[in-house]
Amino acid sequence: MPCTTRWWATKDTADDPTVRRLEELAAEIVGKEASVFCVSGTLANLLGVMCHTIHGDEIICEDESHIFWYESAGLALLPAVQPFLMTGDRFRALDPEHVKAALKPLSSGPSRRLLCLENTHNRAGGTVMPVETMKRLYDVAHAGGLKVHLDGARVFNAAHALGVPVTDITRHCDSLMFCLSKGLSAPMGSMLCGSKEFIDQARKFRKAVGGGLRQSGVVAAAGIVALETMVSRLPEDHKTAQVLAEGLAEIPGIDIDLESVQTNIVAYDVSGTGMDAATYVKKLAAKGVKCTSHTQTRIRMVTHKDVTQADAKQALMIVRQVIEESR
Ligand SMILES: Cc1ncc(COP(=O)(O)O)c(C=O)c1O
Repeated sequence: MPCTTRWWATKDTADDPTVRRLEELAAEIVGKEASVFCVSGTLANLLGVMCHTIHGDEIICEDESHIFWYESAGLALLPAVQPFLMTGDRFRALDPEHVKAALKPLSSGPSRRLLCLENTHNRAGGTVMPVETMKRLYDVAHAGGLKVHLDGARVFNAAHALGVPVTDITRHCDSLMFCLSKGLSAPMGSMLCGSKEFIDQARKFRKAVGGGLRQSGVVAAAGIVALETMVSRLPEDHKTAQVLAEGLAEIPGIDIDLESVQTNIVAYDVSGTGMDAATYVKKLAAKGVKCTSHTQTRIRMVTHKDVTQADAKQALMIVRQVIEESR
């Protein structure tokens, strides 16, 4: 049976004072009324979509978005919504005019209730959506009766890259999730943020899917440290990513668009090396350099607090070595 009603109240387990402090701090920093601590970004995105939609709705997302590619079809499983995919520009930002055109009601079409944005954009290589674009998308969505959810796994990286306070970005969405892990370096956790009513509902859904957390103060404490001490150091990761990207651009066989390296992700193509991405990843791993592949030819490397510029230079030497050995 489709779920068309809001769910029942459940006793929440967020009684832990450290979790409450983290939730208040997170909400304050991103300028929303409330937030809820989740084990992962995937769960936080899922709860966000569940709160904004009912079964059978359609949500608009960019066709390379994380929520579509990497979240195990959660959209189909729980909120039971259909993604309406739209192609972004070179850096994967959606065009507000295209979104506006997509909002025209079809006589037998599904209800489009939500626009999902991603900033920074993972599969595009950590690219940043400008504030002006976010504003226009938000205005278009609201004019068409849609809410906006931001997958802001790395929204603080976006804020640094744009040189704006994070609230300049987050004011252009109704809800957002951001990750305490990843660049903010906490061992786990993500925050879903929005209005108080929205977060009350998300808390109930979190409990229903088994994501309620009891003795979570110990991990929430790390989240507080992440928010208080890690946000300001993110530009270091961006510099390390630049060192890596510029070095990669000089290696024969590697094709990298330096303009796409805007934050802490470095994405590039290895078809010119004669290796496919899986082989390249395996060979680098054997020499201690960890990276992943996006496609059969595209690689993704990420910088974080435990990767120094010296580490990046060493990684470059190993990349050269691996490519030379494979020729
Ligand atoms: C843009 C984006 N959204 C969501 C997630 C999911 O986060 P998690 O791995 O904590 O589930 C990721 C993870 O890489 C991501 O890059």
